[in-house]
Amino acid sequence: MNRIFSGIQPTNQLHLGNYLGALRNWVRLQESTASQPALQKSNVSQPALRGAENFFCVVDLHALTVPQDPESLRRSTREVTAAFIAAGIDPERSVIFAQSTVPAHAELAWLLGTLTPMGWLNRMTQFKEKSGKHREDSGLGLYSYPVLMAADILLYKGTHVPVGEDQKQHVELARDIAGAFNRRFGSEYFPLPEPLIQSEAARIMSLRDGSKKMSKSDESDYSRINLTDDADAIALKFRKAKSDSDLLPDNVEALGARPEADNLITIYAALSDQTKAQAVAHFAGQQFSKLKTELADLAVEKLSPIGTRMRELMSDQAELDRLLKRGTERAAAVANPILRGAQDLMGLVRS
Ligand code: AMP
Ligand code: TRP
Repeated sequence: MNRIFSGIQPTNQLHLGNYLGALRNWVRLQESTASQPALQKSNVSQPALRGAENFFCVVDLHALTVPQDPESLRRSTREVTAAFIAAGIDPERSVIFAQSTVPAHAELAWLLGTLTPMGWLNRMTQFKEKSGKHREDSGLGLYSYPVLMAADILLYKGTHVPVGEDQKQHVELARDIAGAFNRRFGSEYFPLPEPLIQSEAARIMSLRDGSKKMSKSDESDYSRINLTDDADAIALKFRKAKSDSDLLPDNVEALGARPEADNLITIYAALSDQTKAQAVAHFAGQQFSKLKTELADLAVEKLSPIGTRMRELMSDQAELDRLLKRGTERAAAVANPILRGAQDLMGLVRS
């Protein structure tokens, strides 16, 4: 049985980069795994994944690895859940839940931590980046974060993990940990999970600086399009986006030296389901302002229904919590027996 697992941390607001780099791919995977061809709306062909089960998790325990305001964390957890659904993840066909509500995640993380050499964790680039010069002061949780992520995936015997390039090393670590468990306790208990990296639109850049990733943590709100931005805000942010004074080029190579034009063309191509070459051909020789105007219209058309749906979902907290609870039950029903099996293999007693 193939199982797809992925997660997003509930920190701040989700933005266009999260949508194009993660959520939209999840929706496409959900469509391509549908067992009835009638449900196959996408042109992404992943026949091997037909019939796979999908788990999409709001990873609140991961968010706690850096300081969070408790009320904002709770709010973000609901908001990210709303974003999943508004973007097209169907809570019936996929399992949507919050990580902390299935305690087996933390329990398996402990078990896997006993099998993970510190040398493996010392190689993780994200820890090095996030801890920076304050290595001695950073929390144990930030260091062992990849072990919790391995537990997330292995708890469902996950086989495929759609993530951005930045998370590939963590998925590879999850493979190594699964291998270590299997060698030590026999049996092919855990399948070795594979990262699924979508390369197109894998990196959407800041609207203020084409050399920086669009990020939840950028101080300037003008650097990103939030999924909850209304039509006016979306249009305004594209209008104010950094540009250069040249006419737009007629070939993709020429974008190499123009990061802002490159980024806006990439976004245009992704939102209109075209290749970058097609988008370049469409704007060849035009003023930069033309790209901004068309992009603003297109983004409003594609994103404002998502924002509207998110606001609707957020206004009915009881319904959102009901959906999350149902997700928790479905996730736990898969996770608990797999945790139990690992506990048995490792020699823990049953009560
Ligand atoms: P984060 O916002 O870092 O918690 O990431 C959540 C998901 O969104 C991950 O799968 C990232 O790879 C993806 N993501 C975040 N920022 C961007 C971006 N600027 N462009 C493309 N994908 C992104
Ligand atoms: N670490 C991932 C990120 O920051 C989020 C995450 C946690 C995740 N657990 C996961 C992604 C399991 C995929 C599978 O983006």
